[in-house]
Amino acid sequence: MGWMTWNYFADNFNEKDLREMADAMVSSGMLEAGYDHLFIDDGWQGGRDNKNNMIPDPVKFPSGIKALADYVHSKGLKLGIYSDAAPLTCAGYTASLNFEEQDAKTFASWGIDYLKYDYCGAPDDMEIAKTRYKKMGDALRNSGRDIAFGICEWGDRKPWLWGAQVGGQLWRTTADVRDKWKSLKPAEKQSDLHATGAGILDIVDYTQDHAVYAGPGHWNDMDMLVVGLYGKEGPSGAMGGTGCTDAEYQSQMSLWSIMNSPLAATNDLRNMNAETKRILLNTEVIAINQDVLGKQAVSKVKNEKWSVFVKPLSNGDFAVAILNRADTTQKANFNFAELGLTGNYEIRDLWQHKVIGKGKKWDGKVLSHETKLFRLKKI
Ligand code: DGJ
Repeated sequence: MGWMTWNYFADNFNEKDLREMADAMVSSGMLEAGYDHLFIDDGWQGGRDNKNNMIPDPVKFPSGIKALADYVHSKGLKLGIYSDAAPLTCAGYTASLNFEEQDAKTFASWGIDYLKYDYCGAPDDMEIAKTRYKKMGDALRNSGRDIAFGICEWGDRKPWLWGAQVGGQLWRTTADVRDKWKSLKPAEKQSDLHATGAGILDIVDYTQDHAVYAGPGHWNDMDMLVVGLYGKEGPSGAMGGTGCTDAEYQSQMSLWSIMNSPLAATNDLRNMNAETKRILLNTEVIAINQDVLGKQAVSKVKNEKWSVFVKPLSNGDFAVAILNRADTTQKANFNFAELGLTGNYEIRDLWQHKVIGKGKKWDGKVLSHETKLFRLKKI
């Protein structure tokens, strides 16, 4: 869990912004709720020195990354950084191909705790992707520091099949998330979606098929939480997301949680409204995401009107998410037995923070694109 620079800043950030964001992670309650990583994405790099060591952009980071890492660590946070398995990153900055060991050691010497490793500019070939990611995975393991490894490959070369073998703790399943509900037409290949980016619903639909590959220590990464961006994506909204309603943001938080995705916010934590805080800081919802059993929810219903997901929890409870896919408010009526849950249950609504009923079924209204998230306890 944490906060990531990309969808808010793109590559326009500096050490002052990141110190402010670290401060905001603490003062807003994000750290206390579990968001403990500050992830620097593309745009920090300033090339290599005369010994080929990677260096940060001296204008953006005049004090260097080590000083930032020390500051972030002093706040009780961890620091993530970004590179790419090719000569250059997506945004055209220096990347790590053929410098894997040297760069991993540099990151370790700075006190980095996590690496997001992208695949822009690299061949469309699963075997090459595996080889390149393994090289960096091995380099991180030999770097002398415990650095988690995030595979940012966007799904075309099926990283769920090999990501854990090459040392990855998580792998992206789709093209980049955008601050919108869905794309205009479904894409066969994730790369087709890259121009426009994927909406919340697209990512849910693509990732639900990979539930079986996720488990403790190796997760399907559904990309950042766009909660609270309200269309302010990239400098001056240039990234293209048109913004979502609060019901849609609540859905993203519910679905990312029940599907065990890493939770990385990307909104401006220095200026959050009450709705954004209500959604990002809901610790009952976060507990579903962080449950130690580590089982990704399975889709039990999917049609034009509804998606319903069920996730078993470590104490024997079940989390149930009911998503209204339609563009109008709908009345739901689900028997728990049709979701594979026999018997009687106490129903706790994790957005209302209260028990709302008991029995074998739930019926009620769900707003357009809203997701209800329940914890069911057998009685
Ligand atoms: C593509 C990734 O999918 C994004 O999350 C971001 O890291 C950009 N590259 C940075 O260039």
